[in-house]
Amino acid sequence: MAIAIEGGYAPGSSPQGESHMIDRTRFDLSQDQMPTAWFNLMPSLVRAGMRPLPPLHPGTMEPVTPDVLEALFPEALIMQEVSTDEWIDIPGPVLDAYRLWRPSPLHRATRLERALDTPARIYFKYEGVSPAGSHKPNTAIAQVYYNKKAGTKRIATETGAGQWGSSLAMACSFFGIDCQVFMVRASYEQKPYRRVFMETFDADVVPSPSSTTRAGKAILDADPGSTGSLGIAISEAVEVAATSGGAIKYALGSVLNHVLLHQTVVGLEAKAQMAEAEEVPDVVIGCVGGGSNYAGLAYPFMADRLAGRTPQMRFLATEPAACPTLTKGTYAYDFGDTAGMAPIVAMYTLGHTFVPAPVHAGGLRYHGDAPSLSLLVREGHIQAAAYTQSQIFEAAIMFAKTQGVVPAPESAHAIKGAIDEAVAARDAGQERVVLFGLSGHGNFDMQAYDDYLHGRLPEVEFDAGAEVAALADLPGVPIP
Ligand SMILES: Cc1ncc(COP(=O)(O)O)c(C=O)c1O
Repeated sequence: MAIAIEGGYAPGSSPQGESHMIDRTRFDLSQDQMPTAWFNLMPSLVRAGMRPLPPLHPGTMEPVTPDVLEALFPEALIMQEVSTDEWIDIPGPVLDAYRLWRPSPLHRATRLERALDTPARIYFKYEGVSPAGSHKPNTAIAQVYYNKKAGTKRIATETGAGQWGSSLAMACSFFGIDCQVFMVRASYEQKPYRRVFMETFDADVVPSPSSTTRAGKAILDADPGSTGSLGIAISEAVEVAATSGGAIKYALGSVLNHVLLHQTVVGLEAKAQMAEAEEVPDVVIGCVGGGSNYAGLAYPFMADRLAGRTPQMRFLATEPAACPTLTKGTYAYDFGDTAGMAPIVAMYTLGHTFVPAPVHAGGLRYHGDAPSLSLLVREGHIQAAAYTQSQIFEAAIMFAKTQGVVPAPESAHAIKGAIDEAVAARDAGQERVVLFGLSGHGNFDMQAYDDYLHGRLPEVEFDAGAEVAALADLPGVPIP
C-alpha cells in the first residue's frame, strides 16, 4: 500500500512542497484493537477431518486423563489443553500485562525487498518488542496468571535460548510467584546475560543437566560433558514439580495446545494488520522449535485454508539442519522429554533421547514438535524446510543491515525462508506476498554473532546415526 506524503524532509533531501508516494512500512493497531479472546484451531481441524490423537500416560500408555496432569498444571490450563471451544476469553489481568507491549507492530520490509531486487512484498510481525524480547511472554503471563489464581507458590521450568525463562521469570515476578529455571547448559554458557535477566526478576537459574535432580544426574553419569538439550531440561523441571507433593507446578514454553493457543494473539493481530495493508499472504512463514510462535502466527490464517476460503495460501515451517524434526523426523508416538516422564504424544520426532548439536538457535533444539502442527505437516497443509547455521546467519546479517533489527538466531530461520521465497518470486518474475514471524530480537545473542563474524561458527552436521539410535528408544505405540 502506498501513501501520499505532503512536502519534503530537510531542505535538499527531497522535493519541497510537492506530494510524493511512499510505501507504507508499518501497520499498527491501537490498544483497543488488541484481541480479547484466544483462537483455538481444534474445531477447525476436526471439521477438516483431522482428529489429533490423544496424549498417553508415560507409564500406562493409556490416554492421559485430566487428573494425571493436575500434579503439573492448574486446572484452568488443563481445561484449555483439551478445550474444543473456538474462542477462549483472555482474562483482564492478562490483557493488562499484554498492554505493556501489545499490539505488536507489523512491518513491511521494503528495504530488504529493495536489496533483494524482488517484486515480492515482504511483511513481518515483530514480537521482539515484548519486554523479554520475544513472543514467549504471551503465554508466560497467561500461565502464571492461572497458577496464581490456583494458589501456586512456585513454578519450575526449562529454557533453551533463555527467552522462555526470561519471560516466565518476569511473569512470576509480576504475579508474586517463585520461579526456578533449568537452563540448557549450552545456552547458559553462550548467553550469561540471559541468566542475569532472569535473576533480575528473582528467578533461580540452574544449568541443565544438573546434579540437583535424578534425571540430570543420570545424564551426567553417562556423559559428564553433556551440553544439555530442551528434552533434558524439561525432564529436570517436570521431576521437580512431580516430586513436590503439589507444592511446585510446572510450566512449558511451547508444544502444548494451551501454549499455542495463547500465542494466537500474534496471528489475530497480524490478520487485522494485513487487512489494514490490503494484502492477503501467499505464504506464511515461521521458525519452529516446539511450534508455539509459528502456530500463534499461522493458525488464524490456517483456519481459512482448512475451511476452503484460502486454499492457495501456503505455510512454511523452518528449522535447523542440525535438528530437523519436521524434515527428517518420524511421525510417531514419543515422550515429550528425555527421561520419559512427560506424556507421550503423536508428533514428528527425532527420538526423545536425541541430543541435538549445540547450535546457537538454542530455542530450536527440541527433538519433537507440537502435535497439532505435526499433524498439519503430515496432512500436507504445512511444508517444512531446514537450514544450516551459516545460511541463517547470512540471512540474519542481511536483515540487520537492511531493516536494522538484529534477529534472534531462531527467528533468522524464518527470515531465511522469507528471503528464499522473495528470491524465487524474483526468478519467476512474480508478485508474491510473504508474511513471516520475527519471533524475537537477538540482542542477547552477541556471542553467536561474534562467532559467525569471526569464522568460529562450526557447520554442524545432522547426526543421522544418533537419530537412528534415538528412534530405537521410541515407546513403540503404533499410530492408529
Ligand atoms: C526467539 C525465539 N523464537 C522461536 C523459538 C522457538 O520456540 P517455539 O517454536 O515454541 O516458538 C524460541 C524458543 O526459545 C525463541 O526464543
